[in-house]
Amino acid sequence: MRVDVVSIFPDYLAPLDLSLIGKAREDGLLDVRVHDLRDFTHDRHRTVDDTPYGGGAGMVMKPQPWAEALDHVLALDNPSGAKPHLVVPGPGGQPFSQALARRLALEPWLAFACGRYEGIDERVYEHARDDLGLEVSVVSLGDYVLNGGEVAVLAMVEAIGRLVPGVIGNAESLVEESHEDGLLEYPIYTKPSSWNGRDVPAVLLSGNHGAIAAWRHEQRLARTAARRPDLLHASHATGPDGVPVDITAATRGDVPELAVLLRACAAEEAVATGSLDVPALHEGLDEVSSALETSQTWLARSAGRLVGAVRTRRSPDAGDRWEISRLCVTPDLDGSGLDRQLLDHAEDTAPDGIRTLTLEVGAHRTDALKAYRKAGYRPADTPASRPGTVVLAKRRR
Ligand SMILES: C[S@@+](CC[C@H](N)C(=O)[O-])C[C@H]1O[C@@H](n2cnc3c(N)ncnc32)[C@H](O)[C@@H]1O
Repeated sequence: MRVDVVSIFPDYLAPLDLSLIGKAREDGLLDVRVHDLRDFTHDRHRTVDDTPYGGGAGMVMKPQPWAEALDHVLALDNPSGAKPHLVVPGPGGQPFSQALARRLALEPWLAFACGRYEGIDERVYEHARDDLGLEVSVVSLGDYVLNGGEVAVLAMVEAIGRLVPGVIGNAESLVEESHEDGLLEYPIYTKPSSWNGRDVPAVLLSGNHGAIAAWRHEQRLARTAARRPDLLHASHATGPDGVPVDITAATRGDVPELAVLLRACAAEEAVATGSLDVPALHEGLDEVSSALETSQTWLARSAGRLVGAVRTRRSPDAGDRWEISRLCVTPDLDGSGLDRQLLDHAEDTAPDGIRTLTLEVGAHRTDALKAYRKAGYRPADTPASRPGTVVLAKRRR
């Protein structure tokens, strides 16, 4: 993988010569090139910044040195005219995550533009995208403000670089780490088995691999629940670009967007069955809104975008039955596990006293029927509310 970094402090990137990333560079697995932005200035003071239009504190990085620096990077040892994915660190970008690191690790070429001061003139992003044809991603290390992009680039190059095949000797060690599947890692121990009066958990000395795996899984769940409960909801699915999905209760403000999502899912079903007798197809704003009063609607959002929904309520005619309906996921997240995550959420939110969970599903929807079967649902005696559907039920544990 080729990596170009442009900065006004090239020395800041010196740690990329050390440790596993340094070794990967020596071995030719990573080709890292650091460029000084000031080499692309033309005045005596090598000026890269100026005052902001519109007033305000601080300075803004000028577009011209950046445009020349990008031209230089693109022209350097690039006879085929390949284009890097340009990553611009910024506190206003999409959050950097293990999933994003995995995606970026598949790119053959990444270029990083380290901002300083108040950041880079907005036209540089437009130029890179529109005139140079680069994919541009603004990526944030976290919800805090650093002085410059260099620290963020060090972190990103390390996280991405270690995923490039060959950089970490034992690829197995990458699989079980925190954030790989949304959970944190289990506690780890080494010799001696007893230290300062503290013993390693006995199960780890038992040699029983099944018991060890079960213990580790429990520890991962417990640790994630204690330290990062926000990850538990998102542990089964991620949205586009690997952004985790959040599930929250719908409010009135969500109704217009929700109505559109439900219509889209219903339209898909209507096309599949050749029938317009799909209740969700006929739900307008008023019906979606009043359903918020009589049931609970849960929404899945990825980076703010509505990507799924599910509705739940206690059955009005059988108080120990929990009805799950309108389970709907946007087509781009089909197969991402989000539908199962929404189903689990709908089940988890059933109150005490609920003994049966039910769903009504189109009899033709073989994939959905298979998925619900896998989730423990079986055809129920309860009559379906309309022709062409079946009611599925599951006993609550
Ligand atoms: C002082 S910051 C500019 C902050 C900017 N005015 C704002 O409020 O969004 C200067 C530079 O530090 C880098 N930076 C700061 N915080 C960052 C973060 N959380 N993640 C990634 N880069 C960051 C970016 O390169 C940014 O251009």
